[in-house]
Amino acid sequence: METLSLVYYSPTGTTQKIVREIGQNTGLKLIAENNLAENNFNLQTETSNNSLTIIGLPVYGGRLPLAALENLKKLKSNQSPVVIVVVYGNRDFDDALLELKQITSDCGFKVVAGAVFIGEHSYSTDEKPVAKDRPDAKDLETCKNFAKKITSKLKRNKNLNKLSEVVIPGNFPYKERNQLPVTLYPETNNAICNQCGTCVDVCPTNAITIEDTVITNGELCTWCCACVKYCPHEARIFSNSTINTIQNRLYQNFSTRKEPVFFM
Ligand SMILES: Cc1cc2nc3c(=O)[nH]c(=O)nc-3n(C[C@H](O)[C@H](O)[C@H](O)COP(=O)(O)O)c2cc1C
Ligand code: SF4
Ligand code: SF4
Repeated sequence: METLSLVYYSPTGTTQKIVREIGQNTGLKLIAENNLAENNFNLQTETSNNSLTIIGLPVYGGRLPLAALENLKKLKSNQSPVVIVVVYGNRDFDDALLELKQITSDCGFKVVAGAVFIGEHSYSTDEKPVAKDRPDAKDLETCKNFAKKITSKLKRNKNLNKLSEVVIPGNFPYKERNQLPVTLYPETNNAICNQCGTCVDVCPTNAITIEDTVITNGELCTWCCACVKYCPHEARIFSNSTINTIQNRLYQNFSTRKEPVFFM
């Protein structure tokens, strides 16, 4: 194994951080990094058996984010090895890693390892923190350990065809996707907003435009909270009774720290 490609979807940056940390610690030469949210998604068709791909996505409602799937399914491989990772906000990952295994296998990859990691929940706030500031130093150390396990497995098994299937937890049919109300999305405090455009740049679904004020298309908003977390002036606010109920439930029931798990 010589080279490495990274593929991820990561509106609030936790999945990107974890995938990069795992990748860096494999010691392989990074040749491509693909963000599934990009319009000009750079289709990466590395099929060499000498190249490892690491694919990471966050968990949305126990599944993979729908907005990432169109680009994800464009990947094509001829049985080259892939490591699959999902990052969840300390509630549960349900069927998301199994879904990622199925999709990457359908794309032609050979799954050699999987892992679930924890990232700060998109709906975490200072008042109701859920997995706040994760991945933290301990998680990044775990990324290193995972990378070591991957490289030693690949060294031990030169013939990937002989590898036994990696068993991933989850159920099929998968959990039903949650329907988000299109009338609810983050709002802008126009008294603070200086129309800097950061929210437009970070929105993975192009739901935001700036005309006289910041306009949000509720049909396109996936509630990812990137605009809220990255607005440099705290002018994007996501506060309504539905999201507040979700935040209370997460804070009350899912505040106890969970740890990453590997599937080799
Ligand atoms: C719409 C939505 C649904 C989510 N559903 C779940 C979930 O089912 N379980 C969970 O533990 N975290 C859930 N999360 C939290 C994210 O998985 C978590 O914050 C992750 O770290 C976000 O990844 P990112 O920083 O790469 O965007 C959800 C977040 C969003 C925005
Ligand atoms: S990032 Fe914040 S300040 Fe900048 S345009 Fe968007 S809402 Fe306004
Ligand atoms: S508008 Fe919606 S989809 Fe776009 S960044 Fe904000 S929360 Fe995410």
